[in-house]
Amino acid sequence: MSLQATTQLDALRAQIAARRAQGQRIGLVPTMGNLHPGHLALVTHLRASCDCLVTSIFVNPTQFGPNEDFATYPRTLTDDLAALEGEDVDLVWAPPVDAMYPLDSPFLIQVPQALSGSLCGAHRPGHFDGVASVVLRLFLQAQPDAAVFGEKDFQQLLVIRQLVEDYSLAIDVQALPTVREPDGLAMSSRNQYLSADERAVAGELHRVLVQAAERLRAGEPWPALQARAINALESVGFAPQYLAWRSATTLGPPRQDEAQRLLAAAQLGQARLIDNVPV
Ligand code: PAF
Repeated sequence: MSLQATTQLDALRAQIAARRAQGQRIGLVPTMGNLHPGHLALVTHLRASCDCLVTSIFVNPTQFGPNEDFATYPRTLTDDLAALEGEDVDLVWAPPVDAMYPLDSPFLIQVPQALSGSLCGAHRPGHFDGVASVVLRLFLQAQPDAAVFGEKDFQQLLVIRQLVEDYSLAIDVQALPTVREPDGLAMSSRNQYLSADERAVAGELHRVLVQAAERLRAGEPWPALQARAINALESVGFAPQYLAWRSATTLGPPRQDEAQRLLAAAQLGQARLIDNVPV
């Protein structure tokens, strides 16, 4: 029988409880569906260390702003199930909105400003509150021992790590490097919003970040480097929202004794693209 989505919480809980009773290690890969090779890399990675692999598919309304693409976000459950079957996934948790949020006014987590007040959080108010709220719900529902997230959403990864620490959750949060197209463009469901012309230049975002990181390492001063990188993006049609040099541990100002990261977000036509690279 082909892989079916579980859509009711009681059914998910019963299946997870049966696996736990057999001493199985549960892994969770949270997604919003419309799966691409970046998602499947997360699945393959966690599959190797878990007995029971759960993938969730839920387009989470609370992480979209009022003028964002919640209504049009691609929903492709049949294709996603076929892709997950090929990856030997055990359970697909795809709840309807009212199973995830039974109340009309749901309890939502407020992510501390230090973590959510800049970068994507500054441009998408409330976004990380929505992400943290749904990820906590997914963790409570699936009760995983481990979960994995992509580094493309670097700020999201740090929010989730802090969430797990602050709520003392016994979940091993793992991270995987960004999976890229041949020209460096980070794989994302939103890449399909790009026109052919926009797609032809979209790889510039990664190229500019890689080059800026190389120049930083070579000792070039940041403000001039940042201005040049922003100009380079604007010259091919991007509207950059931020291009920042940060501590990879706190997302605060970079420190010599901590890993560092360059992070950027830019609008290109209808697509808001994000990317980041180590320094
Ligand atoms: O990265 C995503 O796809 C989403 O933000 C997540 C973690 C599944 C929460 O909705």
